[in-house]
Amino acid sequence: MSKATIYMEKNFERFTDELQQWLRVPSISALPEHKEDVRAAAEWVEKKLIGIGFQETTLIETAGHPMVYAEYRHDASQPTLLIYGHYDVQPADPLEEWLSPPFEPQIRDNNMYGRGASDDKGQVMLVLAALETLLATTGTLPINVRILLEGEEESGGAGIDQYVRQNGHKLAADAVLICDTHMVSTRQPSLINGLRGILYGEVVVFGAASDLHSGSYGGVAPNPLHALCLLFSRLKGEDGIINIPELMDVAEEVSDDEKTFFNDDPLGIERCLKKEMGVDRLVGDLRHAPLERLGIRPTFEVHGIRGGFVGEGAKTVIPASALAKVSMRLPAYLDTGEVFGWLEKAIVANMPKGYRVEVRNLHSGRGISVAADNPFIQAASDSLAHVYGTKPVFMREGGSIPVAALFDSILEVPVILMGFGLSDDGAHGPNEKFSMDQFRLGIEAVVDYLVRLGR
Ligand code: BES
Ligand code: MN
Ligand code: MN
Repeated sequence: MSKATIYMEKNFERFTDELQQWLRVPSISALPEHKEDVRAAAEWVEKKLIGIGFQETTLIETAGHPMVYAEYRHDASQPTLLIYGHYDVQPADPLEEWLSPPFEPQIRDNNMYGRGASDDKGQVMLVLAALETLLATTGTLPINVRILLEGEEESGGAGIDQYVRQNGHKLAADAVLICDTHMVSTRQPSLINGLRGILYGEVVVFGAASDLHSGSYGGVAPNPLHALCLLFSRLKGEDGIINIPELMDVAEEVSDDEKTFFNDDPLGIERCLKKEMGVDRLVGDLRHAPLERLGIRPTFEVHGIRGGFVGEGAKTVIPASALAKVSMRLPAYLDTGEVFGWLEKAIVANMPKGYRVEVRNLHSGRGISVAADNPFIQAASDSLAHVYGTKPVFMREGGSIPVAALFDSILEVPVILMGFGLSDDGAHGPNEKFSMDQFRLGIEAVVDYLVRLGR
């Protein structure tokens, strides 16, 4: 056994404890009442970085939540890796569905349960454990490392967006490593070769000047909730086709090999999806295979509708207004600002008469396509193959990491999406978990990767 392996084994329990400590901090970036918790989670990780031997660490303030930056640069002859992750988490509701409280992390069946366990604190923690292992056993790192962690990823990432655009030069690196994605299974590792972009907005519909009695006014009054239902069914019908003319002919930027992978689904992912979701039927645009609909096709989803009465019992009211949260996932080559314009136009065109509508762009971030032919990806593939005993497959993932596209376009270096989550981790949902096997294998893989990148 190598020194690193012995160190890892000896300290694994403490790494787990530390992850648990970090998970106890409810760093929900979207909720203003958790602002101080988000900062506390930033401070926790800054302290951890200092503890493992990073000399240069700073909290970088933004208009929103702070970022944590640290560097260990010591040898100009070695490449520099920029490691990105996020320490903020999604809101934990519905709380009653958690078997153990979201911010009182608990290990059951070799999984760590808690909000952020997989997305993304567990995955950042495994990188820190790998860095600690190398620093403690060799006194140094095989390459130069910069670390940038944000606290706003789950709520749009405005601060890091501005920072990277203005300070790209301060982040100069030869490649970026992001551990914030999933792999197929503990037996089948994967590397992500593409993420979709995202556009998140609000649609607000106004009818009468105030809420109305549905007996006195029903039959003549505009009902904004009903208008939203009509609007959404026109924007995407039962056939799953998104009725935005400019999207009708979105290009298929996939290779023949990838098309075959989508159509043949050699890993049986469709079956797993049904099982994970607990459904026996997939919905969507049948002209495209499920894997294609998941990885690269545009989506239009309604996340929530607010308006009228939803309390216990009954209330006969026609609401004066209604609000819906919507998002679109987009192929990487589309400009999200342009698509927002298309969406706005389609909403105005499809609104029933007699209403006023406002469409708001809350945040957006472009997708990314990763070329597989660079040495940093090849090394990642070799490390996963070495640690997992199986060569990784290259796959697209439908989720979005807005800053990844910025690293790609501004730093112009390869972005390595080597994540250790599993698709049934329940990220963003109740009972989010992170497999402790993946935690261990992830530490090993990152140690191997950093060593492999050393020349
Ligand atoms: N880690 C996810 C992105 C992700 C999800 C990658 C699933 C691969 C598979 C990230 O934390 C996330 O949730 N991103 C948001 C982006 C947003 C809020 C701007 C997303 O995809 O909804
Ligand atoms: Mn994430
Ligand atoms: Mn997330």
